[in-house]
Amino acid sequence: MTRERILQQARTWVQEQLAGDSSGHDWWHIYRVTELAMRIGKAEKADLFVCELAALLHDIADEKLNPSAQAGMAKAATWLEANGVPARDAAHVLAIIGTMSYKGGNNKPVRTREAQVVQDADRLDAIGAMGIARVFAYAGWKGHLMHDPSQAPRTAMTPEEYRSGKNTAINHFYEKLLKLKGLMNTGTARQMAEHRHQFMETYLEQFYREWEGSR
Ligand code: ADP
Ligand code: NI
Repeated sequence: MTRERILQQARTWVQEQLAGDSSGHDWWHIYRVTELAMRIGKAEKADLFVCELAALLHDIADEKLNPSAQAGMAKAATWLEANGVPARDAAHVLAIIGTMSYKGGNNKPVRTREAQVVQDADRLDAIGAMGIARVFAYAGWKGHLMHDPSQAPRTAMTPEEYRSGKNTAINHFYEKLLKLKGLMNTGTARQMAEHRHQFMETYLEQFYREWEGSR
């Protein structure tokens, strides 16, 4: 199978798999991450086939969408083999999607350039205007409050604590979103993160003013 044919099959499969998701992993998140990964990958001279395939599949093994993280990885591995992805590329893609999730900041840094590119693309879609929209969508999906001034953001936490517990959308900015700018792997993404970060700072300022009825 040609590379373009594999990518086309991946798009179709991922759209089917993620149809109807409202936890922030819908097809359009995948679309945006893929576009970002291509842009960053070009600038960073990465292998664009691996970048695009890993971006397309990056949420397919997510523990929120599978019985377990291992089951999700097995599903991805089966698909890669069944669709004729060369073994070396398949192993690379699996390594990328298996290591890139944030999980409260407790994960090891990713190693290859392609892994860095796709992780940066996913992180860029968690900040800026898009990141703000996704935080509130996720909080609604979980039944969390937008904001509760009596709940302070959590500073250090285990992956379990990060996933569970009552949290507010606003606290998630402090627990994750505002940290992402400093965690970008590539220079290209670091530059793109600047503007998105600034936009969130402006947004929060306005949010607190409106909360107190002062603007
Ligand atoms: P990742 O792909 O890094 O694992 P998640 O699956 O944790 O990201 O999150 C998907 C989207 O939902 C992201 O935009 C993230 O910021 C948002 N999100 C995750 N956890 C929370 C939370 N507790 N409150 C609000 N938004 C959240
Ligand atoms: Ni993602």
